[in-house]
Amino acid sequence: MEVLSQIAELRRQVADWRAAGLTVGLVPTMGSLHAGHLSLVRCAGAAADRVIATVFVNPTQFGPNEDFERYPRNLGRDRELLAGAGASLLFAPAVAEIYPGGTVGGTTVEVTGLADILEGRFRPGHFAGVATVVTKLLNIAQVDVAVFGEKDFQQLVVIRRLVRDLCLPVRIVGAPIVRDVDGLALSSRNVYLSPAERALAPTLQRTLQATRARVLAGERGWEQLESGALEALTQAGFVPDYVAIRRAADLGAPAADEAELVILVAARLGTTRLIDNLRVEAVSA
Ligand code: PAF
Repeated sequence: MEVLSQIAELRRQVADWRAAGLTVGLVPTMGSLHAGHLSLVRCAGAAADRVIATVFVNPTQFGPNEDFERYPRNLGRDRELLAGAGASLLFAPAVAEIYPGGTVGGTTVEVTGLADILEGRFRPGHFAGVATVVTKLLNIAQVDVAVFGEKDFQQLVVIRRLVRDLCLPVRIVGAPIVRDVDGLALSSRNVYLSPAERALAPTLQRTLQATRARVLAGERGWEQLESGALEALTQAGFVPDYVAIRRAADLGAPAADEAELVILVAARLGTTRLIDNLRVEAVSA
């Protein structure tokens, strides 16, 4: 597997592949890879002839008090894992390559409305950072298809919206969440959890499951369902930011007869902030 760090080199390689009639897929990551990321690589491999994985810890999507500095980094291990999962190329640029004018100011991509709710409310500026770097990576690589995990469900909705609004010629594919045996969604940030917190963490998924069961049983009082889940998480020892039942397509407030729902949660365990979500295909009575 080739490893490149310069935009010009990457573009040359993609042009060569295209000249040979090959299709190209992209899997953007921030590294510290786990089985969830590798499933994205395999998903891209099923959709395209060549797969580029990017490892770039994007500074602009971290708030001033967030974990940019301590975010786990291990490029050597990532490289081995990506090669094993069948990636054709690893693109691991320096910050100055992606942000030649610096990371403050400059041109940013704002996905109005969607970026200010849920995660955006608790992490102001986060989605502008994500939308900007993803737009840059899509412009740099000019791929046919790009794959993102459903674990960051709002991020996926934001990316689909920006691709639509900016008329970017790429197909966006969402790949299912990969979970540990006890149900905890895999995340690079799970390494921050103490053993006691790690033991408690699957409660997040269990709370989503319990809420989904109530929706499937016909309950439609969204606020009551959300506050029930918030209460359960608080009692279990979490400090929840939100539990929200939304329309899966655009994260809007659902009508009572909405069929495609998603339940989203963000909660803190000690100093670690976890997010998760569960799709619900509700059949109205
Ligand atoms: O999901 C992530 O790892 C990041 O938000 C992404 C999409 C690679 C952008 O930095």
